[in-house]
Amino acid sequence: MVFFFYFFSFLVLFLLSPAPTLSLNQEGLYLQRVKLTLSDPDSALASWENDRDDTPCLWFGVKCDPRTQSVTSIDLSSANIGGPFPSFLCRLQNLTFLSLYNNSISSTLPGDLPTCQNLEHLDLSQNLLTGTLPRTLADLPNLKYLDLTGNNFSGDIPESFGRFQKLEVISLVYNLLDGTIPPFLGNISSLRMLNLSYNPFFPGRIPPELGNLTNLEILWLTECNLVGEIPDSLGRLGKLVDLDLAVNNLVGTIPSSLTELTSIVQIELYNNSLTGGLPTGSGWSNMTKLRLLDASMNDLSGPIPEDLTRLPLESLNLYENRFDGNLPASIADSPALYELRLFRNRLTGQLPRDLGKNSPLKWLDVSNNQFIGEIPASLCEKGELEELLIIYNSFTGQIPESLGRCQSLTRVRLGYNLLSGEVPPLFWGLPRVYLLELIGNSFSGQISKTIAGAANLSLLIISKNNFTGSLPEEIGFLKTLFTFAGSENKFSGSLPESLKNLGELGTLELQNNDLSGELPSSVRSWKKLNELNLANNEFYGTIPEDIGSLSVLNYLDLSNNRLSGKIPVGLQNLKLNQLNVSNNRLTGELPPLFAKNMYLSSFLGNPGLCGDFEGLCNGRDDEKNRGYVWLLRSIFVLAAVVFVFGLVWFYLKYRKFKNARAIDKSKWTLMSFHKLGFSEYEILDGLDEDNVIGSGASGKVYKVVLTNGEAVAVKKLWGGVVKKEYENGCGDVEKGQHELSICNLYFVSTISIDYFFVKTVTEYAYTLRVNEKSDIYSFGVVILELVTGRLPNDPEFGEKDLVKWVCTTLDQKGVDHVIDSKFDSCFKEEICKVLNIGLLCTSPLPINRPAMRRVVKMLQEVGAENHPKTVKKDGKLSPYYYEDPSDHGSVV
Ligand SMILES: *[C@@H]1O[C@H](CO)[C@@H](O)[C@H](O)[C@H]1NC(C)=O
Ligand SMILES: *[C@@H]1O[C@H](CO)[C@@H](O)[C@H](O)[C@H]1NC(C)=O
Ligand SMILES: *[C@@H]1O[C@H](CO)[C@@H](O)[C@H](O)[C@H]1NC(C)=O
Ligand SMILES: *[C@@H]1O[C@H](CO)[C@@H](O)[C@H](O)[C@H]1NC(C)=O
Ligand SMILES: *[C@@H]1O[C@H](CO)[C@@H](O)[C@H](O)[C@H]1NC(C)=O
Ligand SMILES: *[C@@H]1O[C@H](CO)[C@@H](O)[C@H](O)[C@H]1NC(C)=O
Ligand SMILES: *[C@@H]1O[C@H](CO)[C@@H](O)[C@H](O)[C@H]1NC(C)=O
Ligand SMILES: *[C@@H]1O[C@H](CO)[C@@H](O)[C@H](O)[C@H]1NC(C)=O
Ligand SMILES: *[C@@H]1O[C@H](CO)[C@@H](O)[C@H](O)[C@H]1NC(C)=O
Repeated sequence: MVFFFYFFSFLVLFLLSPAPTLSLNQEGLYLQRVKLTLSDPDSALASWENDRDDTPCLWFGVKCDPRTQSVTSIDLSSANIGGPFPSFLCRLQNLTFLSLYNNSISSTLPGDLPTCQNLEHLDLSQNLLTGTLPRTLADLPNLKYLDLTGNNFSGDIPESFGRFQKLEVISLVYNLLDGTIPPFLGNISSLRMLNLSYNPFFPGRIPPELGNLTNLEILWLTECNLVGEIPDSLGRLGKLVDLDLAVNNLVGTIPSSLTELTSIVQIELYNNSLTGGLPTGSGWSNMTKLRLLDASMNDLSGPIPEDLTRLPLESLNLYENRFDGNLPASIADSPALYELRLFRNRLTGQLPRDLGKNSPLKWLDVSNNQFIGEIPASLCEKGELEELLIIYNSFTGQIPESLGRCQSLTRVRLGYNLLSGEVPPLFWGLPRVYLLELIGNSFSGQISKTIAGAANLSLLIISKNNFTGSLPEEIGFLKTLFTFAGSENKFSGSLPESLKNLGELGTLELQNNDLSGELPSSVRSWKKLNELNLANNEFYGTIPEDIGSLSVLNYLDLSNNRLSGKIPVGLQNLKLNQLNVSNNRLTGELPPLFAKNMYLSSFLGNPGLCGDFEGLCNGRDDEKNRGYVWLLRSIFVLAAVVFVFGLVWFYLKYRKFKNARAIDKSKWTLMSFHKLGFSEYEILDGLDEDNVIGSGASGKVYKVVLTNGEAVAVKKLWGGVVKKEYENGCGDVEKGQHELSICNLYFVSTISIDYFFVKTVTEYAYTLRVNEKSDIYSFGVVILELVTGRLPNDPEFGEKDLVKWVCTTLDQKGVDHVIDSKFDSCFKEEICKVLNIGLLCTSPLPINRPAMRRVVKMLQEVGAENHPKTVKKDGKLSPYYYEDPSDHGSVV
């Protein structure tokens, strides 16, 4: 009876309801209101419109508690939605997880978030949020995870953040926070990860209170403007796995308490100003999990502790410091070591004999040290070695045979050592090597025919050795060969016929050998050839007629051979910065363009060559010749007068500045636009007040006699140099050949220049004798650096280099976005002119680049207009950046 009553009631109810659907619950209605506040161009939230659902639990990005059907999680990451933060979401009382990662949520974060009472995970990273961090975030009682990375939050971290009760992860990376890192963060004892990297914080210290965060596993404070010392208290972070304090201005020693971090796996301290030694003693032995230590680019000294190298390290980077002594042999026992970079230190002794025997070494760079002894034969035992860089040491002996089987090698730089003997035949033909540099050793023997196997070889730099024999035909099979520098050897025989097929060839330097035979009759495929130097050999026959078709040829030196016949008329079409065919047996009339005095030295010593000046084709026209003699003499006398005046002027200036401040040699920047054969130390030692030979408005000039007897003039700029820095990866960036002449160093220095800017640029052109080949380009890059105040590989450029960046920015945004904002706007006109000169010098095609004479003249013109305005007494200093090319002349 009762049953029938109920059944009947149900039936009535069922029949009475007009449609078979139930209505959307309240949480679904809330979400539909949220949707109204968001822009959704990709219709990611299309499912949120579905009125036939009774719950939103199947909607895109929504998850519910299966029992109560109440929404617990919303994940709309990368959905391309926009609009202000949808506070209405907090009506969902059981919401614990909210991610809007990687969208376009904009405006400020509202203060009413705390109504999300149950929220545990809040990810708003990679959005467009601005303003200050809301104080009220700390009132979310259950919040464990807060990621606001990659927004534009600015100002301070609110004091309320010290009150978080359950917070485990906080990441504020890549914002515009500009207060200091506050001590009260040390109150959040539940924290496991504190990630504040890449904020423009006001310079401040690492709060010692962070040492109270005993649950911390990750501490990232990269590039946070930190100053002062690393607090001892960090040693208390017993659970810390990852410590990153890189790229700050930390000073003092590395506290020995850091060796108490027994859980630590990774320590990054690079690019600070830390001094003293690495902690000694047996502390390291407790850091049994340490895999990576990077303390590069500091001012650390002393030995590398034996105990450190006993750890199971994978990567040890200590380059650009002043470590000395031997490298502990135990490093060879690190079973996981794949990266060892120790370049630019003062390490001595031999490399451990078993280095690489037990470890899968991939990258080894010990360049610029004082290592002796042989290259360990075991380096590539695990078959992983890719980069072997040992330039500028005193390694002796031969290249181990075993390296000839090291198929993994890609980049090999053995230059400037004392290596000798024959190069193992297989070593020439390693299939993945793109850079093989053996320059400046005593290698002998021939280039093996096995070089045919070096299918990726792009740079073959073997100058300044004792190589003999003829060049194998196989070199001409290397399709990717860009530079072949084999000068100053004892190569003989003729150039292989196949050489003319090298379509990528940019530089061919074979001067100072015993090569003979004729030059290839057709060189049309050398379309990219920029530099051809075959001077001081025994070549005979004629200069190929079609050399005039090599439109990017910039430097041509065929002097001191036995070439005969006429000068190809086509040569006139080329815009050569250097042309030298002197001391050959060339005959006939000079092409009209070259019949000028300024080309005289290019053609001297060819008795059969006729032109309109003295020294060529003597006595052809006495009247005319006398005219030229007279002209030359006048020029000479004039030059002498100018010189004497210059001396007097320099002397007066010198006296005036003689008692100026003392020289701080550590604060020097060396600049040159040439491959120079001396080291910076040689220069610095010569910078004595006694050696001053002149003193101009923009700096003092010193005469420095080098150990090789050569004298050079060195200029110091007033305003001086602020700091020496490392230029990251300069050598790793593959650049065009032109940049290399600036970039083949590892120094970057910050230099300050006053208002004599234009004048200074002009004087570089003079005193540094920038007048040859691709140096015009390098000089142009320096001009662009000065004008823009940017480094050539500023991260903002992305794929571009400085030159391309300037061109596109000029086009798209105008000149104001290019010029360094530090310039006083009253100089804008002049600076624009200088910018234009910089652009001219860096034209993609060398033929469009002006000659140095013209550059100097243009700069002088700007300088002349500029001069009256520039003489300001209280000129403020602005920083410019230079790379210092003075250390060595090698490439890549
Ligand atoms: C939240 O979940 C509880 C059970 O855990 C439930 O009683 C309550 O109704 C839910 N709230 C909403 C708004 O659904
Ligand atoms: C960010 O979201 C866009 C879609 O809006 C997507 O194409 C992109 O891959 C996402 N990026 C990341 C890093 O998740
Ligand atoms: C964020 O800051 C950067 C750098 O100041 C600026 O270029 C960008 O336009 C800002 N974006 C927003 C959404 O405010
Ligand atoms: C941090 O903790 C200390 C000691 O418990 C307390 O005195 C201080 O008020 C706290 N600071 C904040 C900002 O919560
Ligand atoms: C800290 O943030 C940076 C930038 O978002 C990220 O690359 C890094 O992985 C974070 N650190 C950790 C340990 O997660
Ligand atoms: C936190 O650390 C500081 C300095 O390291 C110390 O003075 C302070 O007592 C610590 N506070 C707590 C609550 O442990
Ligand atoms: C290594 O750790 C143990 C245990 O924490 C400790 O007793 C010992 O003193 C530590 N050794 C060194 C050299 O610090
Ligand atoms: C080349 O070998 C000769 C002896 O044959 C030696 O005198 C000379 O120093 C060597 N040159 C180089 C650069 O090693
Ligand atoms: C080193 O740090 C300074 C700022 O402290 C920065 O300007 C420079 O770019 C950094 N260099 C590298 C290689 O990270």
